Amino acid sequence: MNKIALGVASSISIYKAADIIRLFQKEDLAVRVIMTEKATRFIQPDFFTALSGEETIVNLFDRRQRPIEHIALADEISLLLIAPATANIIAKLASGLADDFLSTFYLAVKSPVLIAPAMNEAMFLHPQTQANIKKLRDNGVEFVEPEAGYLACGQTGGGRLASPEKIVQTSLRLIRRQPVFKDKLIVVTAGPTRESLDPVRFLSNRSSGKMGYELARQAYQLGAEVVLIKGPVELEPPTGVKVETVVSSEEMRQAVFKYYDQASVVIMSAAVSDFRFRQTSLKKIRKEKLTLNLELERTPDILEELGHLKRGQLLVGFAAETADLKTRASDKMKRKKLDLIVANDVSREDIGFGRDENEVYLFWPDGRERLIGKTSKRKVSQEILTEIGAMLNERKGNN
Ligand code: CTP
Repeated sequence: MNKIALGVASSISIYKAADIIRLFQKEDLAVRVIMTEKATRFIQPDFFTALSGEETIVNLFDRRQRPIEHIALADEISLLLIAPATANIIAKLASGLADDFLSTFYLAVKSPVLIAPAMNEAMFLHPQTQANIKKLRDNGVEFVEPEAGYLACGQTGGGRLASPEKIVQTSLRLIRRQPVFKDKLIVVTAGPTRESLDPVRFLSNRSSGKMGYELARQAYQLGAEVVLIKGPVELEPPTGVKVETVVSSEEMRQAVFKYYDQASVVIMSAAVSDFRFRQTSLKKIRKEKLTLNLELERTPDILEELGHLKRGQLLVGFAAETADLKTRASDKMKRKKLDLIVANDVSREDIGFGRDENEVYLFWPDGRERLIGKTSKRKVSQEILTEIGAMLNERKGNN
């Protein structure tokens, strides 16, 4: 099912519901908005109707709806999200009151329910509100915690609606999670590494980190615990993902090994520098002193080390090739004892490094291969993780 019901209550943060709708639409999800009567004092229902392309629901007895709309709609949705949720709607849902469309609908819904509260900090922390939240949690309702920041009452404190991005990412995890990823730790590396010569000069590469970030985001949506170990890139970290920032290949190596024992899957999408300077200086080297023959040495191959030490972890590597894609990628897979290798042609300008799109081949040790044709890095990551999910399921079946 590709529909979300979005309940909107009367909070000043109601305007953020517009961004929430847009973010769902980008994920190809339709949104049906349900407003409380009081919310219509802030924004007219027509606003959400125009944005969502579907008639906004406010009243239980509205001739424009199907005769028993709250039951019909409950069967069509994969999630009920209430954002923003006020203290009043939370109290109503906790006590099972059904005196308007939203509260009645809540009782009819069988899909997951997610609530994003927004209110003054004192109201949020009030023992009655907290007791209501606990009661709903005990009934399986999930919450996106409000954040600290500037509140409409002029105070600064907790109680502000979480960001639309965080609310949507948490929603997607509730819709897309798959049992095979539950309680599994997936380690993803992303971006370039930087090998310094001195405090101001370094050796690096053109990796943007986009592919690794997308893989981390998608792994979180599928229900995994995710650690993203990233080199120097400035992208917005994905919601719910633990981020470790490193600079050099040696730092990346140490960070990966910190999690290796607990990991079920390691995806090395980082473009780890293959070389570093044999000698480095803690002070800036003056140009007169700089010899033109700087000596380089190989960095440790993290993936190869992981391959030799693996005990049940599923290892995924990347290969950036300019020719003989299949032969070279397959050689790397064998040498590094990988379970899957993702290979792309870096001589092409339209995909890969720094681009939003990619086209990759997947190769498996048993000779199987698959092309993921040119598409967004988001879609490519979804496909890669679907394959990883299938491999995890297969392993479970074999044990
Ligand atoms: N990798 C690693 N440690 C390194 C170098 C690379 O873990 N020191 C990982 C990368 O994260 C990637 C894969 O190994 O998953 C890439 O293998 P590599 O042998 O570096 O191949 P290419 O980058 O494709 O380059 P080349 O063909 O020049 O070796």
